[in-house]
Amino acid sequence: MATRRQILSGAAASVAGLVSARVFAAESNSTPANNMACETPSQALPSALPDNPPLASKLFPPKYKYGVGGTQLGNIFEVTPDDQAQAMLEAAWAVGTRLFDTAPFYGFGLSERRLGHFLDDKNPEDYVLATKTGRLLKADANPPNPGIWKGDLNFSYQFDFTAAGTRRSVEDSLQRLGVGKIDLVTIHDITEPMLGKDWREQLEIAKKGAMPELTRMREEGIIGGWGMGVNNLETCLEAMDAADPDIMLQATRYNLLDHKEALAKLFPKARANDVALIIGAPLGAGYLAGTERWLYGGDVPAGFADKRARMDKLANKHGTDLRTAALQFTTAPDIVAATIPGARNAEQARANHASMTQAIPAAFWQEMKQQGLIAEDAPTPG
Ligand SMILES: NC(=O)c1ccc[n+]([C@@H]2O[C@H](COP(=O)([O-])OP(=O)(O)OC[C@H]3O[C@@H](n4cnc5c(N)ncnc54)[C@H](OP(=O)(O)O)[C@@H]3O)[C@@H](O)[C@H]2O)c1
Repeated sequence: MATRRQILSGAAASVAGLVSARVFAAESNSTPANNMACETPSQALPSALPDNPPLASKLFPPKYKYGVGGTQLGNIFEVTPDDQAQAMLEAAWAVGTRLFDTAPFYGFGLSERRLGHFLDDKNPEDYVLATKTGRLLKADANPPNPGIWKGDLNFSYQFDFTAAGTRRSVEDSLQRLGVGKIDLVTIHDITEPMLGKDWREQLEIAKKGAMPELTRMREEGIIGGWGMGVNNLETCLEAMDAADPDIMLQATRYNLLDHKEALAKLFPKARANDVALIIGAPLGAGYLAGTERWLYGGDVPAGFADKRARMDKLANKHGTDLRTAALQFTTAPDIVAATIPGARNAEQARANHASMTQAIPAAFWQEMKQQGLIAEDAPTPG
């Protein structure tokens, strides 16, 4: 069982510098539409993925800087057939992906079941497994409000951020996943869009319940570490004041199109508290990979379409592609331990992995800043 700081000692010494400074000379003639699809330019370096270095501080990064998300395994937006889901995981594993994120919420248990099935014959020491707590599932042939989860659903859920509910949730996840350890558990979705106006009351319940209980479970060795898994900044900031988290799974607020507030507020506080970050939804749930969907509902914010088109053009000019730039952008900050894009199929899993081994010319990032497309103080790869 990899407990809180032991993961550090297993971390490889090789680091971000693995990606050499080779610059792409070729200029692509791709249109935005075809360039943003699955393909990654073929000049991929034959290097391994960068891992996180062992750190002297009490930061708790998973070893792996690149992982795969679990929403597609839960049939988000559309049904991912079983064979396609397993093929995606097989492809991710085959290219070296070893960090997996899931949640009870994703397909109301389906994502955990599928991931557990895949991991069944794997050595737990060979991967890092993250799941979430905050919703307890109960059998329900006709769950109300399936929302973004498609296909047949056999469970519904109720929120529970108490200590007892948290322990039960982790135990349920262990059983659904069929594993004897979970490396990271994040407290899921304590935000206003998910919980409504009384979301702060739930945060207070978590401060007294879920947070100290996860610290206890970490000390007992049932989990390796814990944090928040949320789409806002405020919850992450408050949790660092209230408790002793190891990591924040920050989704949707650190990506090419939206990062200024996270840079200003979250990053300094995470550094001060020795809390590493995992970036969820690095592609804006698909928008930075070419879909017309921004995040999980609602309209694409004003100005994003124009910015995306300009970024895409610039990426092509410098011989790379926007998805590759979007993924690498999220792992550039020293405080970021990993990025976890979701993949719908094997091809996407392979393409996203390949993106992490591409060298992007420094001139691309300079021009992005000169044109005001990303913040002047945003860390960039290389
Ligand atoms: N609150 C939280 O804790 C929280 C919130 C959000 C996300 N997360 C975590 O972060 C993970 C990633 O988020 P996400 O999957 O929602 O969003 P994402 O990684 O930003 O985008 C994934 C989507 O982008 C498209 N895509 C990915 N790779 C592609 C490729 N190579 N070529 C073309 N399109 C590609 C796919 O769209 P199509 O399916 O349309 O093909 C895919 O579904 C989640 O799976 C989850 O583990 C956590």
